[in-house]
Amino acid sequence: MPFGFPFHNAQELYDSLEGPYALPPQGDVAVLARPVQGKSFTLKNAMAVQPMEGCDGTTSGAPTDWTVRRYRRFAAGGAGLLWMEAVSVEPDARANPNQLMITEDNAEAFRSLLAEARRAADEAGLSRPKIIAQLTHSGRWSRPYNEKRPIRTWKSAVLDAHQGLPEDYPIITDEELEALPEKFGRATKLCMQAGFDGVDVKACHLYLMSELLGGFDRPGPYGGSYENRVKIYLDCVDAARAEIGGGILAARINLYDGAAGPWGVGENLGLALDEPLRLVRDLAAHGIELFNITMGTPYYNPHVNRPYARGGYEQPENPVDGVARLLYGCAQAQKTVPDAVCVATGFSYLRQYGPAIAAGLIAAGGAKCAGWGRGSFAYPDFARDIIEKGAMAPDKCCLGCGVCTRIMRQPTGRPGCPVRDNAWYGPEYHRVLGGKE
Ligand SMILES: Cc1cc2nc3c(=O)[nH]c(=O)nc-3n(C[C@H](O)[C@H](O)[C@H](O)COP(=O)(O)O)c2cc1C
Repeated sequence: MPFGFPFHNAQELYDSLEGPYALPPQGDVAVLARPVQGKSFTLKNAMAVQPMEGCDGTTSGAPTDWTVRRYRRFAAGGAGLLWMEAVSVEPDARANPNQLMITEDNAEAFRSLLAEARRAADEAGLSRPKIIAQLTHSGRWSRPYNEKRPIRTWKSAVLDAHQGLPEDYPIITDEELEALPEKFGRATKLCMQAGFDGVDVKACHLYLMSELLGGFDRPGPYGGSYENRVKIYLDCVDAARAEIGGGILAARINLYDGAAGPWGVGENLGLALDEPLRLVRDLAAHGIELFNITMGTPYYNPHVNRPYARGGYEQPENPVDGVARLLYGCAQAQKTVPDAVCVATGFSYLRQYGPAIAAGLIAAGGAKCAGWGRGSFAYPDFARDIIEKGAMAPDKCCLGCGVCTRIMRQPTGRPGCPVRDNAWYGPEYHRVLGGKE
């Protein structure tokens, strides 16, 4: 099989499991087509497009025609929730020079994008999805002007060595951290003015807020104890809440860093979810009603973050075990906050078997919504097919080939799916792959 998917039926996926976590049993995919009731919002169905950076904004952060095309396709594809990709709260916090960033000057361009996406849903004869913006500070993965400008929150032996940061490389100061809530608040206000249905105050993938959660070794008031480590993040959530109006307040969070950090990590790199689930509870108390559960970081342990991460990277585990870990984590979060809506991650690797496993997770109370990341680039109308045909077409599924990520690592690459989307890259696809695949 191309790209290492040696399974001929769902049972073989289950039989391949070697790790400590089980996959939920398969369920009836009809559950994915049903509306999802949050505290203050309703999703038209239980499927989400996960946040996926396209790296195709202008250098001042506005969406381009490529960005608009992507969200038009997603909106016409039928998912109930479009969790828009990372949108930076300030220039230095961008992960690449073409990352989206909302400002007073370009908020109108976001408004047009949202209008276009909603029009695409209308034209497809569908009711409109909820669209939320993911507000981000890239922290140690900042690369705002074509060169890396890491902003670290504490000295991590693992990640500092990985990035080649010297011992005396600066650590973001307490005062700089204290300035962040205002920035998240301002960005939330702009997003809501632009017409988003809500915002995500992001704390995942070892970007700044996520790294801070594991800052046991950071000196001062924002390191050490649980209360210290979550303080700035909760302040950012509060600042966003103050501006959200009737919108959806959401959080995409890491429950587990794996080898990249100490958050959620126990003996032998096992899950230790006491603190992450405490945070989930605290976030709910601070008004978060929509969660998106994820793990790891694409920069250090991508197999944890997106099972079957390819591109010059040895797979240290069966990707099905990686999916099982992500789904287990989501189930723990959902059980911790039963009134909230938790979105589960990790279905792309499962290809056409993903929907039944997502349905089983939801039926068992382990999530209320299931999200596809890479799978959405490849197959933007997956939700429509699941609703209308009861299944995903195998020849439209993501192959987990890793090309979207490899494109992203190019200095000016625009991630998408050249395998399934001919309009996307054309000959560039072969350049990015070095003509090998
Ligand atoms: C090209 C690319 C861009 C991504 N951009 C984001 C992002 O902006 N924000 C985020 O939280 N996750 C991002 N992710 C992670 C995905 O949302 C998702 O968690 C991951 O791909 C695993 O889900 P999947 O197996 O369905 O692809 C990105 C992943 C890829 C491959």
